[in-house]
Amino acid sequence: MKSQWWSAVLKCPRCGGGLDVGQHLARCSACGPYPVLGDVPLLVADPSAYCARFHDAILAALAEQDLAEREVVAVVEAFAEGRSELAQSFGDDWTSHEASGGDAPVPVRGAAAKALGSLMAVALREGPASWITRRLKPVKLTLEVGCGAGERSEALAQKCERLLVGDLSLRAVFRARARAARHDAEVAGVVMDAEALPIRRGTLDLLVAEHVVDLLDEPFEFLQQARKALKRGGEVLITTPEPSLGFGEDDALVGLASQAKFKVHERRDGLPWLRVNSSRFVECYLVQALCLR
Ligand SMILES: C[S@@+](CC[C@H](N)C(=O)[O-])C[C@H]1O[C@@H](n2cnc3c(N)ncnc32)[C@H](O)[C@@H]1O
Ligand SMILES: [Zn+2]
Repeated sequence: MKSQWWSAVLKCPRCGGGLDVGQHLARCSACGPYPVLGDVPLLVADPSAYCARFHDAILAALAEQDLAEREVVAVVEAFAEGRSELAQSFGDDWTSHEASGGDAPVPVRGAAAKALGSLMAVALREGPASWITRRLKPVKLTLEVGCGAGERSEALAQKCERLLVGDLSLRAVFRARARAARHDAEVAGVVMDAEALPIRRGTLDLLVAEHVVDLLDEPFEFLQQARKALKRGGEVLITTPEPSLGFGEDDALVGLASQAKFKVHERRDGLPWLRVNSSRFVECYLVQALCLR
């Protein structure tokens, strides 16, 4: 198999060593193999546990992409064999319009219509999505971690030469990769855990983590690894509806970022993020956004 550009960017999530990436396996000479499914390496610390836990979800995601060929399924089965894990589905969290990029449902008209209309206009103009896209400048290599269904991946792919989309969910990685691939950047997908980033030191110009840091058990671990993965002069864009990270203080995230030796270049707060789940169910989060260097 021809060598892919992303082989030179990725590292073993366990020992940090280099990987030899082939069609079905990515190998670390010290730690052993990781599965590669549909050109997506599964670079998580315990790939056997991952394949056992998400066995059915993996096979479904492969089938959705028409990638459930015998050899590919055999890789999943080989890793999962002999492991008994509680079956889980991916933590996918997207509405159908977020996944497709189509229009959100229109909220039912009534007493709240005017207020909702103006809130939506502010969210479009001043929300976390526009904060991220406004900050983008042309760079070589961007990692989007926690890419979900790829709502932001398209904008990122228009501003970099190479884009890596990463998520714990294989289904999310497939979707984000397909959306980003409509644009000029070379795009690759990797299943990864934000707390054990499989990215070599000093390689990234930009790391984007939109609405994911609050979901992590160890956000400090993520921040430390993000800093190591950045090139000199690189930056991290983080948005989150819960900057307290469960510690009760809105300054918690900034505090951890400083401990991880980041400088807070920009901090914005109260950016409206609206999720129109249906014409009668609209969620509004007030998001904090940080640009770290
Ligand atoms: C709220 S969604 C945000 C998706 C996308 N960034 C957006 O804003 O539309 C959070 C995403 O983070 C992913 N995620 C959760 N924990 C993760 C982890 N430890 N490492 C990588 N991704 C994770 C989930 O699978 C999910 O796709
Ligand atoms: Zn290793």
